[in-house]
Amino acid sequence: MIRSILDVLDLSVEEIEDLINLACDIIEHPANYAEACHGKTLATLFFEPSTRTRLSFEAAMYGLGGNVLGFSEAQSSSAAKGESVADTARTVSCYSDIIAMRHPKEGAPRVAAAHATVPVINAGDGGHNHPTQTLTDLLTIYREKGAIENLTVGFCGDLKFGRTVHSLINALSRYTGIKIVLISPMELKLPSYVKKDVLKDKGIPYVQTTDFESVIPDLDILYMTRVQRERFFNEEDYLRLKDSYILDPKKLTNAKKDLCIMHPLPRVNEISTQIDSDPRACYFKQVLNGKFIRMALILRLLEEAAKG
Ligand code: NCD
Repeated sequence: MIRSILDVLDLSVEEIEDLINLACDIIEHPANYAEACHGKTLATLFFEPSTRTRLSFEAAMYGLGGNVLGFSEAQSSSAAKGESVADTARTVSCYSDIIAMRHPKEGAPRVAAAHATVPVINAGDGGHNHPTQTLTDLLTIYREKGAIENLTVGFCGDLKFGRTVHSLINALSRYTGIKIVLISPMELKLPSYVKKDVLKDKGIPYVQTTDFESVIPDLDILYMTRVQRERFFNEEDYLRLKDSYILDPKKLTNAKKDLCIMHPLPRVNEISTQIDSDPRACYFKQVLNGKFIRMALILRLLEEAAKG
């Protein structure tokens, strides 16, 4: 049975701990891993735009001594001729040992995994899930805070369509002492299925508010997000909501001195560039962590696939 990673919950807490430890070892001793995937090929199938996710997957595979092939837009693949995701996955399995796939439709990577003969990693599916961004986020929290426990984590912005938010809340629900603070306009609230299945059913304490200033002093982590323009049904709603929250130095007046400010990026307007030089800004460190955790994931999945 080939193992794919479609949801962050496909990995146990122990497996995530192993990936974090492996990523930390890769950071300290990159030369030890420089040939670890020699002769192996990663295919990156991106049916949606991406900078960090695709390039970090590719940089990860190059860092392991492997090869990379793929496409970065649906228009340049046979999807433009009407080929199904299932057939694309079957085809690309003939040329590669592992696939990373991003698609605008929720569930598309699951369809690909059902037809591929190599592991498939979900690199973001619509407004649903983004497990490798979550691994990136967990590694960042671990490196910044020393542990993933006893933290108040605030999510701010587009909590409705932000797939990174849904995945990270799911992942955090398995750690102890986590409190969640949800900050968004009413129209962009966390979907009720995430609130019910994750926060309520698992008894995670949470607060939902539109008022950023009232909750900022409580936060250990502030996870800012972009309003997801591509998932809106009309442009007027996007324009009305896009600048609901803009983080600037004044808004941080009452924040903790060791607050960790995260963002999956790309940033549009929601974090002022004045924040970039604040030692609490962690979003570019997050970018780098994304490469190392993907190296760890590729390595482990290929090891498992080799065992058969
Ligand atoms: C995120 C995504 O694609 O969901 N970006 C990323 O992968 N780092 C966030 C976003 O696009 O807003």
